[in-house]
Amino acid sequence: MDLKEALRSKLTDKELQSLKTSFDVIGHVAILEIPEGLVKKEKIIAQALLKLHKNVKTVCKKSGERSGTYRLRKLKKLAGNGFETVHKESGCLFKLDPRKAYFSVRESTERLRLAQELKPKEKILVLFSGIGPFGIVAAKKQPGCIVDMVEINPTACEYAEENIRLNKVQESVKSFCGDANKVTPSKKYDRIVMPLPETAYRFLDIAVSHCKKGGIIYLYAILGKENTEVEEEIKKHKLKIVNKRNVLPYAPGVWKVCLELKVD
Ligand SMILES: C[S@@+](CC[C@H](N)C(=O)[O-])C[C@H]1O[C@@H](n2cnc3c(N)ncnc32)[C@H](O)[C@@H]1O
Repeated sequence: MDLKEALRSKLTDKELQSLKTSFDVIGHVAILEIPEGLVKKEKIIAQALLKLHKNVKTVCKKSGERSGTYRLRKLKKLAGNGFETVHKESGCLFKLDPRKAYFSVRESTERLRLAQELKPKEKILVLFSGIGPFGIVAAKKQPGCIVDMVEINPTACEYAEENIRLNKVQESVKSFCGDANKVTPSKKYDRIVMPLPETAYRFLDIAVSHCKKGGIIYLYAILGKENTEVEEEIKKHKLKIVNKRNVLPYAPGVWKVCLELKVD
């Protein structure tokens, strides 16, 4: 039985039509989008979802957009238990509370793709690393690589430390807590990953100064028709775009993209 069928006797036909049946699941936490017209029935919807999916123990709804330096969004609990959970991705375990640290299940394919591009023994820097998924998946898939991760949200940093232990990658992954401009180790790396699409381009100075000659910077950005700032920054730093891929749709006509930039 799916969610619509489970709610057939509790929602009107019009309400059933506006019900969004797809949702993200992080560990045991399901995150719904509830349209305005269904707010009065949100607890009924959440209870139905709990009954239907045995692996889901908490149901909440998005109540706002992501905002602020930590890129967090408010989540309102509708049914079930707590928010701290352990999520499985690409054979790795990630502990987190989605209210307190950024994590998106939708980027799992991108993380795996990047990990599969790495060559043995490369040195990787992940700026804006959150609870550690890019760095830890990379270290697990390419065990010879050395990964440094930099994150400013202290709670995300605590989870990153715990996730390094959970995945037994203490030998290859190190986490640095603070502003990327201040705490990035003064070393040179073969690849630098910058998964902060809204503003990562403003940190190209730090990435370029930490990248080996011939190395690659993975710059995530939001690109629409009118955004020229990102391209101007790339030109200013004399970087060559060697690859450009759409990662996820962001808004009509706007994409979250990954720009692969070569440092000469
Ligand atoms: C879009 S999230 C990506 C997190 C993680 N890489 C992931 O994929 O789950 C961007 C992260 O950058 C962090 N951040 C923002 N500004 C920063 C800065 N100046 N230095 C270090 N981290 C920063 C935020 O706290 C947030 O966790």
